[in-house]
Amino acid sequence: MQALIFDKTKSDWDSTKGFELADVPKPEIEKDTDVIIRVHYAGVCGSDKGIWYRQAFKEQILGSIDAENFPPLERGGIKGEVEKEKHLSPSQSLGALSPRQERVTMKKSFRIIGHEFFGEVVEVGSNVKDIRVGDFVACESHVVCNQCYQCQRGQKEVCTNEKILGISHDGGFAEYARVPAHVVWKTNTGLIRPDVAAMQEPFGNAVHAASKVDLAGKTVAIFGLGPIGLFLLLIARARGAKSIVGVEPNPTSIEMAKKLGIDYVIKLENTNAEKPYAHNQEVTDEIIKITKGVGVDVSFEMAGFNSSVNNCLYATRRGGEIILFGIKIGDFVFENYNRLIVHGFTMHAVIGRQLWQTWETTRALLEDPGNQIQEKLFNVILDHGNGTILPLAQYTKERFEEMINKHPKFLIQM
Ligand SMILES: NC(=O)c1ccc[n+]([C@@H]2O[C@H](COP(=O)([O-])OP(=O)(O)OC[C@H]3O[C@@H](n4cnc5c(N)ncnc54)[C@H](O)[C@@H]3O)[C@@H](O)[C@H]2O)c1
Ligand SMILES: [Zn+2]
Ligand SMILES: [Zn+2]
Repeated sequence: MQALIFDKTKSDWDSTKGFELADVPKPEIEKDTDVIIRVHYAGVCGSDKGIWYRQAFKEQILGSIDAENFPPLERGGIKGEVEKEKHLSPSQSLGALSPRQERVTMKKSFRIIGHEFFGEVVEVGSNVKDIRVGDFVACESHVVCNQCYQCQRGQKEVCTNEKILGISHDGGFAEYARVPAHVVWKTNTGLIRPDVAAMQEPFGNAVHAASKVDLAGKTVAIFGLGPIGLFLLLIARARGAKSIVGVEPNPTSIEMAKKLGIDYVIKLENTNAEKPYAHNQEVTDEIIKITKGVGVDVSFEMAGFNSSVNNCLYATRRGGEIILFGIKIGDFVFENYNRLIVHGFTMHAVIGRQLWQTWETTRALLEDPGNQIQEKLFNVILDHGNGTILPLAQYTKERFEEMINKHPKFLIQM
């Protein structure tokens, strides 16, 4: 089957970019709890862009490919066979590798990218209870262990042993994907259109972020109007926020936010060259002005920049709430730490989606025609599909790179 992969034998992480379109073995049921999905649409997001430019997930991708190959004996091998190791190139079929000894000691060198996808179940393991062939499904991208301390206490989003689809577990930029049944989420295609269904995973991120506070009647600021910030705008509106202000440097995203009905949007123009971590005073002054000198009730940090975190601290009213969602590796500086305490902020860090509460809320929001969220997702964020849906067969590195830099969100169609 065709898939977009990172292959460590073909691409040196530090000196290359992009994904390879390759012929790889079609996945087969390995465990009796696996399901095979024929992928229809897969969403491309900032994390994939991070892999494309080799800015993120190096250790997770390289380490997990190695871990899948090691130790061979644990995969049922017999001592002595390790020397007979055989490299499995993407074009070789797994099925062709018999007898079993060769199967056991094969080396897999690639990762199939993609963690946001939607498709039809075509095969289920003998121990899969509630998923059937023919079901349409999306996937929770965090493959949790269900055994660790958090998993056993209802906090699966912070599982100690999780793997991530498309990063540390093969993903969905492929014709078929194998996933454990426990990450599969059934979707009613009579109520949710398939292209929108492929965005449930990142939409769920915004649902989770929004679930930390009651937004009804609140003034809200969203720092970063990338796809997830834009999803949050729709959710905050549906949750009855009184007014919503966004902060964003990218003109395309600003236009989208306006089309989605944001009340105010502030274009971020300047960064503080001397103190790159510091808040942008013209931005926070503007927000204080809009809120008549008070500050917003709730700030969402949806960009992952230090200055943006400090913008939250300077735009939120005393006693207000700050939801931190953007991710960046490294140290951040809190400006005027004492001010954070004296102003009595409540801060929340949000990762992933809660299983399965977030998915249930996501379903309720998407299935409700009254909020028009589905229409807005397709008409505005996917721009009616104009140049935002790439058939896998038409993949070229040039075209894909142009799309990741042009569209905040686009889909691959298998
Ligand atoms: N916590 C989680 O579970 C989780 C999951 C997915 C993504 N993320 C992170 O959340 C963030 C948003 O995700 P996304 O997919 O929408 O990412 P994205 O990178 O597409 O969007 C970020 C947006 O922020 C804008 N921006 C850049 N600098 C800014 C600044 N200083 N102030 C305000 N806006 C600024 C960018 O122009 C862009 O539109 C990213 O940092 C991403 O890594 C977190
Ligand atoms: Zn994503
Ligand atoms: Zn766990």
